[in-house]
Amino acid sequence: MSLLWKQGIPMGILGRNMMKNSMKSAFIHNAVAPVFIARTYSKAPFPINDKELQRQRRIEKLPKWQQWAIYFKSEKFKKSMTVYYICGFGVMCVSFYYYMRDRWYEDKQIQHVRKKYQNDPKSLSEYEYLMLKNLSQETLRPKEVKKYRIYQMMRKEFRRKHIMDKDLMFEPTPEELEEWYSKQPRRTIKKAPVLDEPIDSGSYDSKSKPKVEFSNSDNPNIVPAEDTTEFYEAKAQAYDDEIKWEERGMFLGKRRRWLMQQLKGDVLEVACGTGRNIPYLYPERINSITFMDSAKNMVEITRKKFRDAFPNFKKAGFTVGKAEDLVKLAGDESTAFKYDTIVEAFGLCAHEDPVLALKNMGKLLKPGGRIVLLEHGRSTWSFVNNHLDFRSEKRMKTWACRWNLDIGELIDEAGLDITYEKRVHLGSTWMLVCKRPEDPINSDEKPFLNKLMGTEPKPLSRGK
Ligand SMILES: C[S@@+](CC[C@H](N)C(=O)[O-])C[C@H]1O[C@@H](n2cnc3c(N)ncnc32)[C@H](O)[C@@H]1O
Repeated sequence: MSLLWKQGIPMGILGRNMMKNSMKSAFIHNAVAPVFIARTYSKAPFPINDKELQRQRRIEKLPKWQQWAIYFKSEKFKKSMTVYYICGFGVMCVSFYYYMRDRWYEDKQIQHVRKKYQNDPKSLSEYEYLMLKNLSQETLRPKEVKKYRIYQMMRKEFRRKHIMDKDLMFEPTPEELEEWYSKQPRRTIKKAPVLDEPIDSGSYDSKSKPKVEFSNSDNPNIVPAEDTTEFYEAKAQAYDDEIKWEERGMFLGKRRRWLMQQLKGDVLEVACGTGRNIPYLYPERINSITFMDSAKNMVEITRKKFRDAFPNFKKAGFTVGKAEDLVKLAGDESTAFKYDTIVEAFGLCAHEDPVLALKNMGKLLKPGGRIVLLEHGRSTWSFVNNHLDFRSEKRMKTWACRWNLDIGELIDEAGLDITYEKRVHLGSTWMLVCKRPEDPINSDEKPFLNKLMGTEPKPLSRGK
């Protein structure tokens, strides 16, 4: 023990157990000693001194974890670690240098694009416009995000190639970007997204018309849309019992509460199902509410739940109909009853034409009204998307639900603006508030800086 003291090994750490164990291990010999003992022998000058030899033997008899503890405390270990610390620090410095160099070039590129924009907004290419839009307070649309990501990847590669040419700016043509993108190794064989052309799934010619990477109409793993009314008519009675465990596991109650907190004025709930949002409804915040679903049996369950929960609430209506026929059902668009809030939970995945359904919702909004959605769809993680794609057919069979749709893209295609977006459950549950493009954003929806400075967010125009 005194020897261990001399080596700077505190007794407190090894303690009395060590003495006990060392006596025990005199009988049980450890076959494999930690590396440092072997090294000490091999590197020790011959002849090794007596005290040192005794110490080595004593250590050898200790349990393995104590031998390692002694090694980690030794000067030898500390010295070898210094080398690793220095190497680690070196790696960090190099990564930091590369990161900062990229930021610097990106900043130069931004300045260049800003100058171009000031001189002539029309001279901006699509990507340069996206770069400015990304820096402004406008949110990039889902298709734009994809395209901008590709542009950034290509910009970084361009910079690596032209490292010595500091003043050379990155200005790819759409053809160059498309060619570069098509050469990248990846699992899917898609082309770079095109922003200006509307996507027409019917008349897509894969050779002549590049489309959005893995867009809904392009993703072979999304099962074809169908009318799911019959399925839900049959499922209505069992629906609550079968879905409740999945929902509890995902703490969906919290998300449904958020959804219902957004309601105000005259409200329409599309695809209300069995009224699973009713427990979270605050009737004092609303003027009237209309529940609508294409399955009659679902509407009946909602009606019963609502009447049980709010027997005195008079202005409630229950309608059977499809979201795709919403405007027709409401009569003439100009004279139809309009809503302050249209809400939908997990309905877009079950619609035959979700884009048309969203367009219809937009048409039935009062000026300044909002569409509030709680939906599941594509995630922000590819491993989750792989799972959604892999199980898409099974999901369709068990729940008549296309759970791998890109919800952001549906909103884009319906021509709506997103004023609030939050993604939970690894990005696969979408919480969205949408508005018609012509409606202004409310003060509580403005970016923080605008609110602070009392300024209006300025939309960016490319001036076509
Ligand atoms: C997955 S369930 C969601 C139900 C409910 N919103 C909820 O959160 O539990 C989908 C619902 O959409 C309804 N649905 C399907 N297609 C529809 C359509 N085209 N128009 C209106 N409702 C539809 C189904 O009848 C079903 O009740």
